[in-house]
Amino acid sequence: MDILENFKNMSVEEANAFLEDLYSCSHDCSTCGADCSSRTKKPAKRVIAVISGKGGTGKTVVTVLLAMALRKRGLKAGILDADIVNSGIPHLLGMKEPVLGEMESLVPAKSPGGIPVISMALISEDPLEPVIWSGIDTAKAAVYLFTESQWAEDLDVLLVDMPTGAGDIALEYYTTMPFDSSLCVAVPGEAAAMPARRAVNLAEMLLVPVMGIVENFAEEGFNLSEVFSDIPVVASLPYDASLRRAADEGGLESYETDALDFLARAIEESLDFGEI
Ligand SMILES: Nc1ncnc2c1ncn2[C@@H]1O[C@H](COP(=O)(O)OP(=O)(O)OP(=O)(O)O)[C@@H](O)[C@H]1O
Ligand SMILES: [Mg+2]
Repeated sequence: MDILENFKNMSVEEANAFLEDLYSCSHDCSTCGADCSSRTKKPAKRVIAVISGKGGTGKTVVTVLLAMALRKRGLKAGILDADIVNSGIPHLLGMKEPVLGEMESLVPAKSPGGIPVISMALISEDPLEPVIWSGIDTAKAAVYLFTESQWAEDLDVLLVDMPTGAGDIALEYYTTMPFDSSLCVAVPGEAAAMPARRAVNLAEMLLVPVMGIVENFAEEGFNLSEVFSDIPVVASLPYDASLRRAADEGGLESYETDALDFLARAIEESLDFGEI
């Protein structure tokens, strides 16, 4: 699991060889000794990382709305709140029941609408207690939650709400969790586009395809598809005070929008291709 530590201590040649190995992964672990994400069992048919370049773009809100849109289509979708320091999913869903530990594994708690959720906020006794671990330890905790949780056998999609950023912590997540793809939540503005671009580039460098950009706080006159000409903008959400209120009050599941429906349909259609 100490890929990042090893990576940091490698010479440039060794680091290049490591990245080359990642690029050329055959996903046949019987012929390779590397301890990488291909070794981690996938808990759902699709594991999708919800990422962003900057904080506060709406990753957590989009994760919940997408889970709702997937469930509206009859798919089984769960959420791993992988933002250990600032876990926000339970608040948006008004969840207080703790995650249960059973036979050394964690049983996801259910939102009022039935979304299975694993989150640090449902494990720690006091959600206001700051998590004062090193960045890498928080990444390891997230990977622990990922691997030790008892998701339903037939989970279609696991959405992973990622912490912000495209640095060493993100690298640890990408190299240890078997993501099929990612979605980048970005907001209008040249200054915000650059970090979003970096986040997209990191995912692509590590062979996690970016399915699309979700434009949040969308505004007239600024078109994110001009900034991301090579990646489709798959959903667009304007600022909506009633959304913010619903989220603040823990009632996001009662918020109705069709903004994520197209994306949910695309994910459903991708399931027809079977395991990837
Ligand atoms: N389209 C929207 N309209 C109104 N409010 C929104 C919208 N999207 C998000 N918000 C609000 O903006 C704030 C930030 O959203 P959110 O917590 O989802 O961002 P985040 O990217 O997950 O942040 P962090 O980087 O801290 O994890 C929240 O108060 C949320 O309710
Ligand atoms: Mg968040």
